[in-house]
Amino acid sequence: MAGRSAIGLDIGTSGVRAAELSFGKQGVTLEKFGQVALPEGAVRDGEVVDVVAVSHALKQLWAHTGFSHKEVVLGVANQRVIVRQVELPALPEKELKASLAFQVQDFLPMPVEQAVLDFHPVEEYGDAGQPRMMRGLLVAAVREMVLSNVNAVQRAGLRVTSVDLTSFAVLRSLGSFGAADSDAVALVDVGSRVTNIVVHRAGVPLFVRILLMGGQDVTDAVADTLGMTRQQAEALKQAPGLSGIDHEQQLNAGRALEATAASFVDEVRSSLDYYASSAPAGGTLKRVVLSGGGSRLHGLAQRLEAATRLPVSVGNPLSSVSIGRTGLSDEQIEFVQPLVAVPVGLALGADR
Ligand SMILES: Nc1ncnc2c1ncn2[C@@H]1O[C@H](COP(=O)(O)OP(=O)(O)OP(=O)(O)O)[C@@H](O)[C@H]1O
Ligand SMILES: [Mg+2]
Repeated sequence: MAGRSAIGLDIGTSGVRAAELSFGKQGVTLEKFGQVALPEGAVRDGEVVDVVAVSHALKQLWAHTGFSHKEVVLGVANQRVIVRQVELPALPEKELKASLAFQVQDFLPMPVEQAVLDFHPVEEYGDAGQPRMMRGLLVAAVREMVLSNVNAVQRAGLRVTSVDLTSFAVLRSLGSFGAADSDAVALVDVGSRVTNIVVHRAGVPLFVRILLMGGQDVTDAVADTLGMTRQQAEALKQAPGLSGIDHEQQLNAGRALEATAASFVDEVRSSLDYYASSAPAGGTLKRVVLSGGGSRLHGLAQRLEAATRLPVSVGNPLSSVSIGRTGLSDEQIEFVQPLVAVPVGLALGADR
């Protein structure tokens, strides 16, 4: 393998997955990708609950995938991370980092000493003769939550070199997908229980929202309606024609699926409406790009299109990445494409 390499690690509700990228003169190459399923309940709403189960899955992931090292960039996205648009006095980056904790307590729902902070500037502004200000996105994560996710990774013998917001990972891997530079685009990564929304323009994040919703809500609704296990409902959701259930059950399952998909789409739309109500000049949303396993739900893109009146497409996070000797066939790569957006984006973040 030529050049430097980085591994992005995504701990999702349905499984752990990691991607190794190398950065060479020819550009970025996907060297390895692997995933291992997690037992139900090991990760809840984006937080590691069962450290033993997660670290066991991570050990298996490393044993089976052939990564070249054990240093990872870890993603987090859950209710204990908040992202807010804030305005602060404009400062050089170094000074800003040093003084952030003193400046942001008023914006935070938690004591500042219990938070891990980050700030992403969006724009500077100010009238002549006035102190300049800057608008940006403040990220604050509850330290204890971050440490507990990191702990699960360390227990697997891995080293976390940095922690990044999952939404920003999606932005890195899909931020240039099919984009005209001046358009604001919403990236929506739909997981099992967590959906990351990030609106950006030319790669600069303008708005982030983490929703605790995803494909599992649809599965659960089908399971509840038909009195099935989650596994049976999952199979039915993914391939409705092959389920062997009777006509009436088909109809009931269809209704449950419709209703949950509709409320999911509603939530996404209202987040985008919220963004639109305070969008910066020139920040009118032009398109929506989907990723994540949940984006495979039949008809989801069409539903979102109807609700938002915007073109909706499924993004390819590997469009500007060469494929190395991953050991995966072209079909397998195509199949995992929606799932690599997060780990690939995390690894891309290491190349800063
Ligand atoms: N063919 C398919 N049709 C419909 N849904 C699908 C399909 N394949 C996967 N999914 C759904 O994708 C979801 C899993 O997506 P993903 O793997 O991105 O989530 P995750 O990262 O593990 O979880 P999270 O990010 O929510 O913690 C599940 O709800 C699953 O039902
Ligand atoms: Mg996910």
